[in-house]
Amino acid sequence: MEKLKWVSSLGLLAVLFFICASSETTPVRKFLRSTNHRELMNKSLRVQLLTKDKQREVTMDNGIVQVTLSSPEGFVTGIKYNGIENILETKNAEDNRGYWDVVWYEPGKGGDINIDKLACTDFRVIKSDEDQLEISFTRKWNIKLRGSKVPLNVDKRFILRRGSSGFYYYAILEREEGWPDVDIDQTRIVFKLQKEMFHFMAITDGRQRIMPRPEDRESGQPLAYPEAVLLTDPINEELRGEVDDKYQYSLENKDNKVHGWITADDTPVGFWMISPSEEYRSGGPKKQDLTSHVGPTVLNMFTSIHYGGKDINTEFRNGEAWKKVLGPSLVYLNSATSKNKTLTLWTNAKAQMHREVQQWPYNFINSEDFPKQDQRGSVFGQLKVNDRFISERWMEADSAYVGLAAPGEVGSFQIETKGYQFWTKTTKKGYFVLNNVRAGNYSLYAWVPGFIGNYQYKYNITVKPGNKINLKVIVYEPPRNGPTLWEIGIPDRSAAEFFIPNPYPTLMNQLYNDHPDKFRQYGLWERYADLYRNRDLKYTIGVSDYTRDWFFAHVTRNVGNKTYEGTTWQIIFELKSWKRGNYKLQLALASATQAEIQVRFNDVDRADRALFSTGLIGRDNAIARHGIHGLYKLYTIDVPSSHLQRGNNTLFLTQSRSIGPFQGVMYDYIRLEGPTGN
Ligand SMILES: *[C@@H]1O[C@H](CO)[C@@H](O)[C@H](O)[C@H]1NC(C)=O
Ligand SMILES: *[C@@H]1O[C@H](CO)[C@@H](O)[C@H](O)[C@H]1NC(C)=O
Ligand SMILES: *[C@@H]1O[C@H](CO)[C@@H](O)[C@H](O)[C@H]1NC(C)=O
Ligand SMILES: *[C@@H]1O[C@H](CO)[C@@H](O)[C@H](O)[C@H]1NC(C)=O
Ligand SMILES: *[C@@H]1O[C@H](CO)[C@@H](O)[C@H](O)[C@H]1NC(C)=O
Ligand SMILES: *[C@@H]1O[C@H](CO)[C@@H](O)[C@H](O)[C@H]1NC(C)=O
Repeated sequence: MEKLKWVSSLGLLAVLFFICASSETTPVRKFLRSTNHRELMNKSLRVQLLTKDKQREVTMDNGIVQVTLSSPEGFVTGIKYNGIENILETKNAEDNRGYWDVVWYEPGKGGDINIDKLACTDFRVIKSDEDQLEISFTRKWNIKLRGSKVPLNVDKRFILRRGSSGFYYYAILEREEGWPDVDIDQTRIVFKLQKEMFHFMAITDGRQRIMPRPEDRESGQPLAYPEAVLLTDPINEELRGEVDDKYQYSLENKDNKVHGWITADDTPVGFWMISPSEEYRSGGPKKQDLTSHVGPTVLNMFTSIHYGGKDINTEFRNGEAWKKVLGPSLVYLNSATSKNKTLTLWTNAKAQMHREVQQWPYNFINSEDFPKQDQRGSVFGQLKVNDRFISERWMEADSAYVGLAAPGEVGSFQIETKGYQFWTKTTKKGYFVLNNVRAGNYSLYAWVPGFIGNYQYKYNITVKPGNKINLKVIVYEPPRNGPTLWEIGIPDRSAAEFFIPNPYPTLMNQLYNDHPDKFRQYGLWERYADLYRNRDLKYTIGVSDYTRDWFFAHVTRNVGNKTYEGTTWQIIFELKSWKRGNYKLQLALASATQAEIQVRFNDVDRADRALFSTGLIGRDNAIARHGIHGLYKLYTIDVPSSHLQRGNNTLFLTQSRSIGPFQGVMYDYIRLEGPTGN
């Protein structure tokens, strides 16, 4: 005991000596200062705005985080938190750390695709008091900017609140009447973190891992497209031989509420993108998009052509005026006291996400373009399903998706990007409530897992502030002509229930080894030709099992020498009886990429005459991007009884387009219906 004491006071002496001799910035000095810690914190907890460098730089500070932006451009150049001077990659230029960008072009010009980082020209303070700062960077478009800047007025907002461990951001984009036509393929915000610090990424409870470094991608071997790289010489030896591809980390809008990175540190720090609402995204709840990926990069995607292709870009024609608020979202930071607590940062980020969802719509946003709760309305009711071939009585629409989006065609919400969308899932009994709906005109759309097709309410719905609109009982009648003779799959807009092959052992992402999302592995499309080497897929109704015998994607066959062939799948089914009349084939697709499906019954040799062809369809690229679905399409095909016979029949499904490996479709569900009446 005595000895220990002696040693420790020696230590203390040494420390004191060290303090006296040392310069300003040693850790010890910092420690001494922190005896004053509480008072300092208290003082700085008031939110402050600091300007520097002749106003070329503004800093928002609440004593917890300090956010620095270039002025008047409005790029986030620095985020100081928990003793880290800058969370963002300081090796990157100032416009390449935290920025918005828009991918755009003028249609019909055959010209370049432009990326506009929305550098602004004016800075102003919207609100500044002890509790909150809101700042704005704006740019007004005019005709002189044609060709060089996307024809949009831009207002980028950043908010720092007292006591908040992070900052909010949103943007107001606007077009005035008469401005030139424009196509916008993508709108997003990007944050690039310090690559030496952040090595662990988390997307969901089951999708988190130690990630490769950007250098690993450079030293690796690009695969069938540049985004997918085989890691041949990674800095972290344990990642050797894995595939990295940012598309393996996509999420559906409905699930995309929090994702981010954690530092590999003794006192780890987390950086999180928290999006409390889907209202400002596009394409409905099942639209998929990128989240976080090697960089370390953190995205918030507002619109993009990912998993939908040009069908879901944003087109302005005939001088259309437009305005939309993208966000607000939160960049949230958290920290833990020991390495062992690294994963608590994910749990804490999720808890924060739930708090943000509770607070939505935020009441602290200082723009009249962002309506507060009392300026919004709600729409509610109960959805039922009427399919008399399943039940004489109306059925409850259990866990159906119900949403409001701009008025349009049946199912058009999945390609809609200009308006706001509001979605929910029904209860077991089909009840739904859409809360916090912005005033405006909408269609009500829905679909019900287990049933094909799209529901659309027959009237437009106009929501005014404070409205509570009760639709009472509404009934969906899914397409149906006659009794089910046979069916393959589950009508749920995904091919996940079908056979997903094992990946090539040399091309794996270990995260998805033994994982429910096996479909996110790279290269599965090539496995078709391995498994069906000599002949194409044949499926016998009553014998085959779609979980084993129906390959998840109808792809091309690689016949070597970079040559591909279309493939024809067969469904063999027995008709116990035959009736004159019209049979119907319900062919639901979960995805299509430059594909054409031709349908023939029993007479495949009549090559020139298919009973039905989809024609060239789809650009969602979901096969290459491990999506398991892209855009949903339903074909209801007349099958005259003359094409069928009593006894055994064969349905031939030919995917005839074959320039490359990624062409094809994913089926959602196939059903043959018997004839009615006659
Ligand atoms: C700390 O903050 C509280 C509330 O803002 C204030 O009442 C108190 O005087 C502050 N104390 C110090 C030491 O600054
Ligand atoms: C962290 O975990 C390791 C191994 O489980 C343990 O030996 C160590 O004491 C823990 N450290 C802290 C600070 O909890
Ligand atoms: C909604 O539609 C009505 C009638 O068609 C129209 O008068 C009104 O201006 C529209 N409201 C909005 C917000 O577009
Ligand atoms: C709904 O609104 C759209 C756009 O304003 C309009 O074109 C359409 O005719 C309306 N539909 C109905 C059923 O009123
Ligand atoms: C491979 O394709 C190229 C171009 O189509 C052709 O010139 C070549 O002869 C082919 N090689 C083999 C082995 O078939
Ligand atoms: C249909 O084909 C199955 C399997 O090939 C066979 O067992 C059955 O006897 C056939 N039915 C008729 C009516 O030919």
